[in-house]
Amino acid sequence: MSESVHPVPTGFNARIGPGDLARLRAAAEDDTDAFWLDQARRIDWTAPPTQAGDWSFDEQDFRIRWFADGTLNLSVNCLDRHLAEHGNRTALIFEADEPGAGRTVSYRELYEETCRLANLLKSRGIGRGDRVMIYMPMIPEAAAAMLACARIGAVHSVVFGGFSPDSVAGRIEDCDAKCMITADEGVRGGKVIPLKRNVDAALDKRDVETVIVVSRTGASVPMKAGRDVAYADVRDSLAIECEPEVMAAEDPLFILYTSGSTGKPKGVVHSTGGYAVWAATTFDWVFDYRPDDIFWCTADIGWITGHSYVVYGPLVNGATSVMFDGVPNYPDFGRFWETVDRLGVTIFYTAPTAIRALMREGDGPVKAHKRTSLRLLGTVGEPINPEAWDWYWRVVGDQRCPVVDTWWQTETGGILISPFPGATPLKPGSATQPLPGIRPLLLDPDQQVLDGPASGNLCIAASWPGQMRTVWGDHDRFFQTYFSTYPGLYFTGDGCRRDADGYYWITGRVDDVINVSGHRIGTAEVESALVAHPKVAEAAVVGFPHDIKGQGIYAYVTLNAGEEGGDSLRSDLVQQVRKDIGGMAAPEKIHFTPSLPKTRSGKIMRRILRKIAEGETEGFGDTSTLADPSVVDALLAGRK
Ligand code: WTA
Repeated sequence: MSESVHPVPTGFNARIGPGDLARLRAAAEDDTDAFWLDQARRIDWTAPPTQAGDWSFDEQDFRIRWFADGTLNLSVNCLDRHLAEHGNRTALIFEADEPGAGRTVSYRELYEETCRLANLLKSRGIGRGDRVMIYMPMIPEAAAAMLACARIGAVHSVVFGGFSPDSVAGRIEDCDAKCMITADEGVRGGKVIPLKRNVDAALDKRDVETVIVVSRTGASVPMKAGRDVAYADVRDSLAIECEPEVMAAEDPLFILYTSGSTGKPKGVVHSTGGYAVWAATTFDWVFDYRPDDIFWCTADIGWITGHSYVVYGPLVNGATSVMFDGVPNYPDFGRFWETVDRLGVTIFYTAPTAIRALMREGDGPVKAHKRTSLRLLGTVGEPINPEAWDWYWRVVGDQRCPVVDTWWQTETGGILISPFPGATPLKPGSATQPLPGIRPLLLDPDQQVLDGPASGNLCIAASWPGQMRTVWGDHDRFFQTYFSTYPGLYFTGDGCRRDADGYYWITGRVDDVINVSGHRIGTAEVESALVAHPKVAEAAVVGFPHDIKGQGIYAYVTLNAGEEGGDSLRSDLVQQVRKDIGGMAAPEKIHFTPSLPKTRSGKIMRRILRKIAEGETEGFGDTSTLADPSVVDALLAGRK
């Protein structure tokens, strides 16, 4: 498909037009500190900050601090400050798995629920700095649980409900959580998810002091005396006011675990003040937010997108945010659009994988619904192919709604590269240009900065308020992972092309991270799950192109002497990965092989494994450094 350019649609009356954007960019250049302090005014501070960024990416002087002398409480910014004028405004629209079975929650109701939960946490001895795990469905109490932690200064760590008990236990251990907030069960796509049972299995390995169980289905679940509290039993006795803790801007707000290229998942730590400013600012800029919008981000709160654009970004801005507890194909493939019509959704933000899956079903399920309320569409999580972009724009948005392709990461806290819908001409497949104040650079492997149109590794040269502050418990790993490859710069792990118009085209990860349906999976984690099986000697995992998921997982496995590979072992291995990590990390293909291609020094040549997984049969480049070049032929013969 040739590159097309879409100007801002004529009917789209944006708050921020081209002139405003140019002014924002100039202001960010002219006086960076003043610019960021200006953005910080979006937040109600108990003590307003007098300084903006205080940071250095250099090893000797390494530090990242924003608004460091400011103090605030983020739950106050999400709730209390809206009460006087907008207490009755809808904060959350809970859209349950069954269409129409949800409810709305006003700002006042969310405030009260948050205070109840905060008081319950306090009564269980939880306070400033304590870690609280949240393993919940997409119900309003989940947002209230996050906000309750923020209110009392506890650090939340939300774990996606698709992670296995073993993964949950690993995270509890890593951050030494005192408390777990969960629900009896979840329901998705008509299927029940045994959340409390999973929690109990996790806690068998690593216990916590308190488990709060919110009722979602009302199922009766085992409760451990002294540890487990049924929220429904105590809710009405809890006070609906709770004095907020005054937090320093740099106090941690949350930990969110994400996969990297090596080792176990990292606990990404975000700050209170800088993150608040970034979530608030980017939500306003990128989504052109207006008070009558109904904003729907389909992400789960178990991922960063759910943190920043289901909960914090919308609520700081006093918006109405949809919390969706279902899936795009239940009860049918028209679910998104039926819901858009019923709720009057104006801004819709989802992942390319969902768009591709729906596109495959044809235009019918979209056209069956009106979608006239929509005015803006967005995507996040992975590169969007121009065909899917075009379908989203043409069929879903009726060529009326700008499509904002937003690039960012768990580590960045919020969007960094994205169009402004009212100011940026769009190119399908490009995240377009950096937000004001964001300074991307492309570098080659020899540390050279590339100018003009070029392809290279994407780095960011200057800090921004929403940048992660550390890896929980391992500050050295934080520096090594992100700041050692290109000294003085933040290295994103993504490859990127910049065209002659200065537009950025993210090409995907250049490290050993696989992006499956927008979920980050570390190859090392899957490999270590596979080799945990007693029959497996060695495993190497790579990504391969997948029509719907973007990438799928392809695992090469060598077995111990005397073991036979076959379908029953394949399903055992998939089971093993499901148990250690979760269903989303299950390999699509398992290729048993007598040996892996290794250099004489023993390093696995993943380049070759990737090519074979992609279906290539030649063009493997220089294979002369392989200890045994005949391995390649054996691998080709055994292709899955
Ligand atoms: C990828 C999700 C292309 C990228 C917010 C990044 C994207 C990783 C885009 C982060 C996009 C995210 N275009 N690629 N618009 N958005 N990515 O931490 O590889 O789950 O590094 O954060 O997703 O995934 P994460």
